[in-house]
Amino acid sequence: MKKEDFFGYVADGYNPIIRPRSEELLKEVIGKYKPKRVLEIGTYIGYSARIMLECDENLSVVTVEKNENNVENARLNLKIFGQRVQIVCADAIDFLTNLCQKNFNSEQSFDMVFLDGPKGQYVKYLPYLKKILKAGGVLIADDVLFYGLVNTNQKIEHKHRTIAKNLRLFLDNIQNDSDFETKIYDFEDGVSVSVKKQTSF
Ligand SMILES: C[S@@+](CC[C@H](N)C(=O)[O-])C[C@H]1O[C@@H](n2cnc3c(N)ncnc32)[C@H](O)[C@@H]1O
Repeated sequence: MKKEDFFGYVADGYNPIIRPRSEELLKEVIGKYKPKRVLEIGTYIGYSARIMLECDENLSVVTVEKNENNVENARLNLKIFGQRVQIVCADAIDFLTNLCQKNFNSEQSFDMVFLDGPKGQYVKYLPYLKKILKAGGVLIADDVLFYGLVNTNQKIEHKHRTIAKNLRLFLDNIQNDSDFETKIYDFEDGVSVSVKKQTSF
């Protein structure tokens, strides 16, 4: 599928979708780990969900998006996948806290999480994502280097300062968590791939 074929339902012309090398990495990770149940945070209009669903017919996706208009477009774009995709219209933190509060059991856990929602919130989501991820599961986070602002020593514009600080904290936390093995890919806006160790709880 070509990207330009996908945007029949886009109204606003603003397309914050996964970039080409990150998309290739996402496909490689799916090919390697063969996840069956995937959680995506940040659906937008369903482009990356569709990429994942097309990778493997045994894969299903739960994808969370807070913007109702995006959800409507994603429903149209992902209709062909039927029951394999569930689009949840919610703020990601509400979705995650609800999931973790109800007697969370292993049947609700995920083999993979693709984190592509609000960048400043990744660090807040991390404890929940760790909980819902199976041992051996993989967490991919997009845009973790955020226009190069996460690793820069230069003064960051006020509007990006909190996001850069929170992303640094996210990367510190996940890299120093002995239950995860993390690799950071320094291309496009940066992608981290973290595998939850088999021995972790
Ligand atoms: C980068 S876009 C996702 C792109 C999509 N994953 C793709 O590659 O096709 C981020 C999306 O997260 C959504 N979003 C922002 N804050 C959110 C929140 N608190 N909860 C859920 N979704 C949120 C935005 O509306 C936007 O559609």
